[in-house]
Amino acid sequence: MKSEVLIVNTEHHPKAVIVIFGATGDLAKRKLYPSIYQLLQNNRIGREFAVVGVGRRPWTNEEFRQNVNTSIENAVPDHGDTEEFLSHFHYHPFDVTNPGSYQELKGLLEELDHTYEIPGNRMFYMAMAPEFFGTIAINLKNEGLTSTEGWSRLVIEKPFGTDLPSAQKLNDEIRAAFSEDQIYRIDHYLGKAMVQNIEVIRFANAIFEPLWNNRYIANIQITSSEWLGVEDRGRYYESSGALKDMVQNHILQMVALLAMEPPIKLTDEEIRSEKVKVLRALRPLKENEVSDYFVRGQYGKGSIRNEDVAGYREENNVDPQSNTETFVAGKLTIDNFRWAGTPIYIRTGKRMPAKSTKIVVQFKDIPMNLYYNNGQSMHPNLLVINIQPDEGITLHLNAKKTSERSYAAPIKLDYNNNCIDGINTPEAYEKLIDDCLRGDATNFTHWDEVALTWSYVDTIAKAWSSVPAAFPNYQSGTMGPDASDELLAKDGFHWWPVTDTE
Ligand code: BG6
Repeated sequence: MKSEVLIVNTEHHPKAVIVIFGATGDLAKRKLYPSIYQLLQNNRIGREFAVVGVGRRPWTNEEFRQNVNTSIENAVPDHGDTEEFLSHFHYHPFDVTNPGSYQELKGLLEELDHTYEIPGNRMFYMAMAPEFFGTIAINLKNEGLTSTEGWSRLVIEKPFGTDLPSAQKLNDEIRAAFSEDQIYRIDHYLGKAMVQNIEVIRFANAIFEPLWNNRYIANIQITSSEWLGVEDRGRYYESSGALKDMVQNHILQMVALLAMEPPIKLTDEEIRSEKVKVLRALRPLKENEVSDYFVRGQYGKGSIRNEDVAGYREENNVDPQSNTETFVAGKLTIDNFRWAGTPIYIRTGKRMPAKSTKIVVQFKDIPMNLYYNNGQSMHPNLLVINIQPDEGITLHLNAKKTSERSYAAPIKLDYNNNCIDGINTPEAYEKLIDDCLRGDATNFTHWDEVALTWSYVDTIAKAWSSVPAAFPNYQSGTMGPDASDELLAKDGFHWWPVTDTE
């Protein structure tokens, strides 16, 4: 965080008009409106704000406010009176390609600046189909909506392109209207409390950082599993798959945070520059090596929570012969002094037994085993970072449990964020909107990160698109195909169970 931001933090609420493109869409309803409401409840914004919903539907302000109210009722069941809050919401029917629409929007924003005493600060939030991001950005600039006394920031949702060339094209388009420091690319995993905690666990504890390297860590495992299938997103998911949907962004962001060097200061520039170095050190794969390092899977039918579910190829808007992966496991190698020789394994997929994101850091074995452990070798020390649904850390140690003999057994030290604080940590979107309003870009993705992650993932996608897979290859309700276990077994490791059912 920048020092100037700290001053603003303590003394003032940010004052801004938030313009949401895609105001009638799912993301706005499920995440953005409830998050803005929570920001007000948690005293992160005051009364000097307005939200303008922009969409193609010809809604009135009243209809819009009714919809916002419904989404708050759904997401925050014990909410208070919303009337005053809703009065800050305004709807603007809009045609993205028509310059006249931008002029009308400009007039409305100026009016709202006046009503709510906002000094021309604007957050333009793109929560709609990505094909319009570039057009909107350039029109905002050309029609003068970004030329105000205050700041203008562009918040942009994923997907940021579908490969490196398309991401580059999109970036060029938005950069024609906004500078890099005005662009806030969302990766909502960076808003999660325990993802933000990775840095703190590493850099605020003297006991971990000295061990955080290839001398003491055998491997790191990141698992992000979901029990949901592709739902009604078949059309999008068919062209994406788990690799582009989860690995290019969320998973590689967690890799960067786990592997980066300590930043010299906690500014967004310093942190991002360390993350970028990790991504640059990721060993790129050649197309003919992909099958040695990466495994793809697609769910067939099966049972989730005692209910029969269909296979991916039977889902709506999915090709019955689809070659799209709904599961990925991979082995990443980082070629730098700290990590050479220590693999980072990742896996993510849909229709797995549980919704869970966990990081397991497996430490190397002690050099000599002095204690009995029922004839087994000692359980390795593990540091488990629980990202969701539980938030916390668990440290697996060995300790004496019986007085009879020299006997060591595994024990766990548990810290659970939710229990200690007594309240749920804020939703990721609430934090990210708050950060953007305060000008803190630390938890957003810089273009350099986007470019490097696409270039890594593109080779894998290319290798997979040229060879049809033998899908489906895992049953719904399981932890993915056998090849995922074999990937670790080749190195003498195994996945540490991350769910009760595994
Ligand atoms: C999104 C993906 O980015 O992340 C979805 O598009 C996925 O397919 C979701 O379900 C997972 O996010 P979370 O916060 O529920 O783990």
